[in-house]
Amino acid sequence: MPAIVLLGAQWGDEGKGKATDLLGESVDYVVKYNGGNNAGHTIVIGDEKYALHLLPAGVLTPDVVPVIGNGVVVDLGVLFGEIDGLEARGIDTSRLVVSANAHVITAYHTTVDKVGERFLGDAKIGTTGRGIGPAYADKMSRIGVRVQDLFDEKILRQKVEGALEQKNQLLVKAYNRKALSVDAAVEELLGYTDRLRPMVADTSLLLAGALDAGKVVLLEGGQATMLDVDHGTYPFVTSSNPTAGGACTGSGIPPTRLDRVVAIVKAYTTRVGAGPFPTELVDADGERLREQGVEFGTTTGRPRRCGWYDAVIARYAARINGVTDFVLTKLDVLTGFEKIPVCVGYRINGSTYDEMPMTQTEFHHAEPVYEDLPGWDEDISAARSLEDLPKNARRYVEAVESMTSVPVSVIGVGPGRDASIVVRALV
Ligand code: IMP
Repeated sequence: MPAIVLLGAQWGDEGKGKATDLLGESVDYVVKYNGGNNAGHTIVIGDEKYALHLLPAGVLTPDVVPVIGNGVVVDLGVLFGEIDGLEARGIDTSRLVVSANAHVITAYHTTVDKVGERFLGDAKIGTTGRGIGPAYADKMSRIGVRVQDLFDEKILRQKVEGALEQKNQLLVKAYNRKALSVDAAVEELLGYTDRLRPMVADTSLLLAGALDAGKVVLLEGGQATMLDVDHGTYPFVTSSNPTAGGACTGSGIPPTRLDRVVAIVKAYTTRVGAGPFPTELVDADGERLREQGVEFGTTTGRPRRCGWYDAVIARYAARINGVTDFVLTKLDVLTGFEKIPVCVGYRINGSTYDEMPMTQTEFHHAEPVYEDLPGWDEDISAARSLEDLPKNARRYVEAVESMTSVPVSVIGVGPGRDASIVVRALV
């Protein structure tokens, strides 16, 4: 013990990588439990900047064991590409462990993802095009390929044949594309087998042993609450469960062993891809948040949609995940705004809501009800305690706390690893 879950409270890109890395020295294992290389962490250490998409951020911390859990979908080409990239920069990745039960993303999943999005036209989700949805669809349809299948060539071929039989029908007949080759897919996967074998383990057993031995296990969620396939803004979501329940199914650690659920929440809101976003700003303030916050996707480079902080969403995330601590990131980006509106409720068809409405139709029509908080002009990037913050910045933090009834334990005040105020230790 303990097991700590770290997840995003909004639509992703809240700065989880930084929080994970901040915790790195206190934890023994960092487990990625959902998603794949649709994620993107940018971690700044000194003058070095690392962009990770698939590997857990803990890989950068010496002695931490990074684990890719069973709930993840793994693109093996990307995995080895990231490993090679880090090794070339002197980072030791040899401790990495990959679950034998994790599913594999193959070239046919990426093809179907991209072709499917194009086919949807205006109704597209705006996926990252990394094959995430099709790989999870195969998993749920029980025609997926798991990491362990690479060690049995006969089974691997059978599974790829099964998966491609359906996909080729779709590609040729519905999308007017060429059929994909079973041989090419099998060859590609077999090419990774020897390198992969020493990394693969029964990770739920490994983690149970670690917790029994008193090790600290950090479960790191990819994407975020509002992108959860069950609890997010469906269908504008990813195809996995980033929420706290997903940490259990995606790692094999039971709910009774979780001690703390830490949610990362940005001091304003961003979203990549399509879907409803009540506080979105399409004016100069939105542009200013994007520029000051450098809000461009790590994975796709797309400009992120930006808007004010939404306390309804934060409260919802606190409830769905059982959040024990908030990490409030990028407070410094709000410096210089004269007043900072915070969304405290929605107006929908003449009624006021202080909780997420029941239906997506209502959420699509939600108009934010704002409370204006006073801004500050002082540079806060050197603040290392609450007392270092100007009065109005402190007031902003207190407002976030009182609107969610969850304590803010860490505040991010700049992009660097040390640019944080730790009010309450997370481990
Ligand atoms: P997918 O996960 O590639 O299927 O994309 C589904 C939706 O989730 C799209 O709106 C993506 O932009 C969004 N998404 C996926 N990963 C991330 C992330 O790491 N940060 C923010 N949005 C993401």
